[in-house]
Amino acid sequence: MWPDAARWRALGQVFAQTVEEAGYTQVIPPMFENIEVFKRLGDATDVVSKEMYDFEDKGGRHMALRPEQTASIVRAFVEHRPLIPWKAWYSGPNFRYERAQKGRYRQFDQVGIEALGPEDPHLDVEVIALAWRFYQRLGLSQITLMLNSLGSGDDRERFIEALQAHFAAHQNELSEASRTTLAVNPLRVLDSKREQDQAIIDSAPKMLDFLSPEAAEHFEKVQQGLDALDIPYTLNPRLVRGLDYYVRTTFEFISDAFDAAQNAVGGGGRYDGLAESLGGPATPGVGFALGVDRTLLACDAEETFPGPTNVVDLFVIDTTGGQAALALTAALHEEGHRADRSWDNRSMKAQMKAADRSGAQIALIIGEEEAASDTVTVRDLRGQSGQTTVPRTQVNETLRKMMR
Ligand code: HAM
Repeated sequence: MWPDAARWRALGQVFAQTVEEAGYTQVIPPMFENIEVFKRLGDATDVVSKEMYDFEDKGGRHMALRPEQTASIVRAFVEHRPLIPWKAWYSGPNFRYERAQKGRYRQFDQVGIEALGPEDPHLDVEVIALAWRFYQRLGLSQITLMLNSLGSGDDRERFIEALQAHFAAHQNELSEASRTTLAVNPLRVLDSKREQDQAIIDSAPKMLDFLSPEAAEHFEKVQQGLDALDIPYTLNPRLVRGLDYYVRTTFEFISDAFDAAQNAVGGGGRYDGLAESLGGPATPGVGFALGVDRTLLACDAEETFPGPTNVVDLFVIDTTGGQAALALTAALHEEGHRADRSWDNRSMKAQMKAADRSGAQIALIIGEEEAASDTVTVRDLRGQSGQTTVPRTQVNETLRKMMR
């Protein structure tokens, strides 16, 4: 509801402008897809195996509400084969069956970008830099960029084997929940926040030691690029993302302004194998999605990016029956002003009250005298400009001066 919805939209506008400056064009992915599209994200992740809302449609097809939009964007890429490099942005709701709490919802909004085609590490840098610039434009200053590389697909496999061996050797010391995770996805054990698991996690092998020379060089160039753009980051070899398609660069943005467990305001990385697994040609890709709900919580915590304070700038008051308000308000709209008026022929006092409540800066008043002389009284409701009565033909000029 207003003003939250208006703030929501304003955030979307800042995002669109930021990414369109870099040549990303908007794509509107469908809200649901055949479940197979999302299964390609990896059955071993909670997002796919436990959190997806799925249903059978009347034609017996197994469908799912989208838990994220990268898969749909890459599916669209595979289907329509646009020229590469292809740079797309998107926004909209996603659905995950989770335990709802502050910052974690079953329907939540994301804004994001995906860039397909180039393998260039500088594209990773551009993607990260755009998220960074967006946060800066919102006025957020307490964001930490966590950075990691998961290596190529092969590096990842070798790392997972080493992890498996390490955790298996310490199986009895792990928490029960982590033992269950280990059986399905050893990488996710690194994500455990349980006290009992910390020592075993600390002594576990580190991904960065498993990078092939090519993956190490790619990662080095990403870091050099971020340094060149003065974007601070923290290397976090424990950063594992909740989706399985990532290779090489992965990153997450953490808000340090609120201490809720849900302080990841965005994340992303490379997913060079995803297009192929969705039936397309092997095409590298990189992107991110930022959680709109959580980003706004971070804005609240940092007291930045307030919502708009008014719906209209002008308010028309007519005590002569309403005909004058009808014409003047329409003329103001025609000129592109945001203007409202009072209804039902109320008293002057009631109309002034309505003007005040509307948040408008200026009231345009037509009483008997103004109507007789074809003038309008323009009154500054908030500032120091006082009031002046001007011929109807000079209203626009007067407004321009007052609203400067
Ligand atoms: P993700 O980390 O699953 O990545 O989600 C990105 C962001 O969405 C999170 O950092 C968080 O801010 C927000 N988010 C996720 N789940 C919830 C929830 N239940 N309630 C509120 N906010 C939530 C992805 O979705 C990937 N598709 C990102 C990506 C794009 N990777 C490459 N390209």
